[in-house]
Amino acid sequence: MKTHTQLLIFACVTAFCTGMTPVFAQQGSGDMDNFIKELMGKMTIDEKIGQLNLVTAGEAVTGSVVSTDVEAKIKEGKIGGIFSMTTPQRVRAAQELAVNHSRLKIPIIFGMDVIHGYKTIFPIPLGLAASWDMGLIQETARIAAAEASADGLNWTFSPMVDISRDPRWGRISEGSGEDTYLGSRIAEAMVRGYQGDDLAAAHTLMACVKHFALYGAAEAGRDYNTTDMSLHRMYNEYLPPYKAAIDAGAGSVMTSFNDINGVPATANKWLMTDVLRKQWGFDGFVVTDYTAVNELIDHGLGDLQDVSALSLKAGVEMDMVGEGFLTTLKKSLEEGKVSEADIDRACRLVLEAKYKLGLFEDPFRYCDEERAKQVILNPAHLAKAREAAGKSFVLLKNDQQLLPLKKQGTVALIGPLANTGTNMPGTWSVSADLANTPSLLEGMQAVLGNQVKIIHHLGSNLLDDTAYQERATMFGRTIPRDERPEADILAEALETAKQADVIVATLGESSEMSGESSSRTDIGIPAVQQRLLAALLKTGKPVVLVLFAGRPLTLTWENEHVPAILNVWFGGTETGKAVADVLFGDVNPSGKLPATFPQHVGQVPLYYSHKNTGRPLAEGQWFQKFRSNYLDVSNEPLYPFGYGLSYTTFTYGEVTLNATELQRGGKLQVSVGVTNTGNYAGEEVVQLYIRDLVGSVTRPVKELKGFRKLRLEPGQSQQIVFDLTEEDLKFYNTELEHVAEPGEFAVFVGTNSRDVQEKHFSLR
Ligand code: BGC
Repeated sequence: MKTHTQLLIFACVTAFCTGMTPVFAQQGSGDMDNFIKELMGKMTIDEKIGQLNLVTAGEAVTGSVVSTDVEAKIKEGKIGGIFSMTTPQRVRAAQELAVNHSRLKIPIIFGMDVIHGYKTIFPIPLGLAASWDMGLIQETARIAAAEASADGLNWTFSPMVDISRDPRWGRISEGSGEDTYLGSRIAEAMVRGYQGDDLAAAHTLMACVKHFALYGAAEAGRDYNTTDMSLHRMYNEYLPPYKAAIDAGAGSVMTSFNDINGVPATANKWLMTDVLRKQWGFDGFVVTDYTAVNELIDHGLGDLQDVSALSLKAGVEMDMVGEGFLTTLKKSLEEGKVSEADIDRACRLVLEAKYKLGLFEDPFRYCDEERAKQVILNPAHLAKAREAAGKSFVLLKNDQQLLPLKKQGTVALIGPLANTGTNMPGTWSVSADLANTPSLLEGMQAVLGNQVKIIHHLGSNLLDDTAYQERATMFGRTIPRDERPEADILAEALETAKQADVIVATLGESSEMSGESSSRTDIGIPAVQQRLLAALLKTGKPVVLVLFAGRPLTLTWENEHVPAILNVWFGGTETGKAVADVLFGDVNPSGKLPATFPQHVGQVPLYYSHKNTGRPLAEGQWFQKFRSNYLDVSNEPLYPFGYGLSYTTFTYGEVTLNATELQRGGKLQVSVGVTNTGNYAGEEVVQLYIRDLVGSVTRPVKELKGFRKLRLEPGQSQQIVFDLTEEDLKFYNTELEHVAEPGEFAVFVGTNSRDVQEKHFSLR
């Protein structure tokens, strides 16, 4: 995962020297079918296969394979798309080659992993999810699209909507957490943000929903590992966010690397054709993940020719980087292993995407140097990034209102995450300008100026083990390493701490301790940092833990000993300023956890919407013999899903229902009054869960079905009304029918998934 180097310099020079102007205006007034039919009528089989080939801009991006001979292949019509090539100049140069030097002048689609911002980086997706603010999330995607499209791109490999209930899996950072309903709403918001209401507009991007499917359920949380799951669970819990993104109009889908019940996704016809196309009516195109076709060989499905044919026939249209399609499909056609209709289908869908993006009309519509200058990193975007970061932070603990701090005196920022700008954007921010991202220290200084004296010390290394630290600081996400004995570093840190009124311990993970290929078995704060924290606490000074994390961490010890914990994930470009805003009370934290924080990694997977089992624990018990539990740790999470504190307090009135029965086709109103009973203005996320108490299949003990985020001034109250309909009660039964069964339901309303009021109603 790196930024690309310069490429196609020759082409760039040629284009500008000759002043070529596009001869294009192929795309007519709107009859896509005829236009593509006519174009495909002129295409050779090689040219059709060429459209299915997606290459990198000349260097490895997220895998070890590198695309070669890109310029020559463009001219020969052997490339349909390029990814991770940016700037209007370079994109223009490559596009010039395609539209002026290839036989049929078919424009290229330009993609990239624009995951949580382009140059203006927003919090990592798990952090954005913690905002529970769909308008904000949509806006971050809109800004990402505006910046990326100004830099020549028209396609993003986002949103990543993989549900994950396993914090060992590093890529949990890249999605929206554990919940089906929240994940689905976020998926829609992101697609709307990227695509707007006009895919062909110069400021929008085509979305790519990934990773289809079930990538987040990898066994043991180990990346790329197998998933094996019942259909019932897939349909009810894991597939809805992908479907929501598709229903919102996402133009493309990316396959996942994993095996699904014996057939890897990239060769899985049931998934790509039966579910995606036939059941969900998806009409865009499917791209593989990076070399995922080739990886089918290691999965054990055959040689490159076999697996390329399998993948195409399964319903995949574009091959990312591996060139299995490019190099074998013609032979497979000649040998009758694929049909011309298979290739035509794939080619047509790729061309349709280009048509919808308006590329046939103007292949250079995303290449406007002036717009790039105006749009990228503009102050309004940075302001939104600061706001988004502040809204993503989750206050996990705040004993005796230690926070907010007063803007006075001396604060010691101590820990390996205090002064590293490169780690602030978080994982999967491939286009971030790392050299110019302020560190936490710099960002805080910029906000606080002379009001607060900030002193700083590294405190400890990130990790004891040098090799582990190297693996955890790849791609330029550096953290200085001090090779002196730990005791010497600590002694110095304590000297710094002594001079302060308050210690802010800046600990946790580096950005590359989560993300792709970054699974962990121990999800605690690394031991060397814990020792630092213990020593800081021993000073007797107030200690605030500012926790950097790309996943739920186990914080049992910290929760017991540290008076205040603010989880800031990785907040993006404006992390430092946003942390200052929250620590000093200019912004009241309002984030709520989108994934459960376990007490112990051995509880994983631990999620709130679990089944009851036939031997649940009695209420209030944490161990009973012959009941479903552990000998050593209770079943409870440390912090439940939906949890997060505020500097103020919110008091809930009694939850009321307007009826005891929900009529099919009608609605039931669930109301509650919420009052800000504290001293600060603040935001609260009111959450509504249901439980289907009796059914033909077992149902989760709680399922989120609604939420409302509101802002209240001190003393202010608001009445919230949720409308429940039959739709909210539906689930997939054993026949995979989407039904709402009659019977009794519980409805829960509250401030998180644990602290709720319960009422009952029935459906006839
Ligand atoms: C990742 C994808 C990403 C692709 C292209 C892969 O390794 O799994 O999420 O879109 O690389 O960078």
